[in-house]
Amino acid sequence: TKQKLWGGRFTGKTDPLMHEFNQSLAYDRRMHSADITGSIAYAKGLRRIGILTPDEEIKMIDGLTEVGKEWQEGRFIVQPDDEDIHTANERRLSELIGPLGGKLHTGRSRNDQVATDMRLWLLGEVKVIEESLKALIRVIVERADNEKDILMPGYTHLQRGQPIRWSHLLLSHAFSFYSDLGRLEQLAPRVSVLPLGSGALAGNPFGVDRDFLAKELGFNSVAENSLWGVGDRDFIVEFLMWSSLAMTHLSRMSEDLIIYSTAEFGFVTLSDAYSTGSSMMPQKKNPDSLELLRGKSGRVFGNMAGFLMTLKGLPSTYNKDLQEDKEPLFDAVDTVHASFKIAEGVVATLEVHADKMRQALTMDVLATDLADYLVRKGMPFRETHHISGRAVALAEARQCQINELSLQDYKSLSDKFTEDVVDVFNFEVSVERRQAIGGPSRAMVDRQVAVLRSALSQ
Ligand code: ARG
Repeated sequence: TKQKLWGGRFTGKTDPLMHEFNQSLAYDRRMHSADITGSIAYAKGLRRIGILTPDEEIKMIDGLTEVGKEWQEGRFIVQPDDEDIHTANERRLSELIGPLGGKLHTGRSRNDQVATDMRLWLLGEVKVIEESLKALIRVIVERADNEKDILMPGYTHLQRGQPIRWSHLLLSHAFSFYSDLGRLEQLAPRVSVLPLGSGALAGNPFGVDRDFLAKELGFNSVAENSLWGVGDRDFIVEFLMWSSLAMTHLSRMSEDLIIYSTAEFGFVTLSDAYSTGSSMMPQKKNPDSLELLRGKSGRVFGNMAGFLMTLKGLPSTYNKDLQEDKEPLFDAVDTVHASFKIAEGVVATLEVHADKMRQALTMDVLATDLADYLVRKGMPFRETHHISGRAVALAEARQCQINELSLQDYKSLSDKFTEDVVDVFNFEVSVERRQAIGGPSRAMVDRQVAVLRSALSQ
């Protein structure tokens, strides 16, 4: 009868429900390729210290390669006793190459193996996510570059504040994503630390060359402490934190676009490709894609919070609780990747209504410029702010716009006002006055586009 890999000291059988509760193969099978890659490197390491002969090394690598192919081609047959990807692969390896398969785990534990697999797998995913993030930033930058002529109100507290370029708003989101890109690139070296060779907890007694293993697997460095090597999951927490922040950025951009797509704003129309209808209200076109992006940010944050909670009370080294690292990580990777793709599509296909944005530009958003006008005539800003506020109040009382007040009205507020006050009431001029770095003027929007383009082409 078949034995569990760890069955030696056991006489009783595992309760079937316990087997189901304990197994992780249902989800860790997606790391099959990382597991095989790690084992092939370890087999090479074992040959270098004489545990395997050159001939055995070849047989073992061939066997492992075959197991990997079975997974890739969907031919791998899971056995009822397979507990996780590691036991499944080793079981299959021994079926293919016989007792020699039993030498692979010499000095190795699933503890250093699983930590290695997770890091290796995540490093591959980070590269894929990095590309989808770059693609999203690129789409935003292209749109911003093409739509620089469109002016709109910029909001604080969702109240109209000052005129800006639509491109300036788009680029503000691109810069959030660009900071995410930087953080993603910075966390990768901390993922790229090799646990393999840490054993179960107390290191490797056969003197396996860990620098060789790291080089073989493309890791930057080696875990310097075996207890840390098997027990650390900070790299997962850090990725989940990264994901939470990136999703928060997606959520905030989505919120802007959801509001702008309402009939009340009418600034943008979402493409049919990223909208859905209502089963009852025939007229509805709902921004489901954006709402899901906003919603999924909560889900990813939950993965982070949940796993931190799992981690926080654990004693040193490996505890089975750590198996709970996988589902939140996998889910975050899938969610973040899909979210970037969807966001890219939404932004690429968005219809923008320049006329509606223009209509929303009421003269009151130039009240700051009106105050600045008096500043240029030598008054302290605190006073000019007050005078401009009184102009707004006067216009409100007269039910007109601030540009419809007469010069007499203005002179009654301050004798510094002259005919040239009419020049204040121009949205383009207001936006173009903002030539300092970071402003919405054409030149500064061009600069933002150039900064992001050149950063992405590195
Ligand atoms: N499936 C386990 C996990 O995901 C692998 C490590 C098991 N190690 C152990 N000592 N039981 O964490």
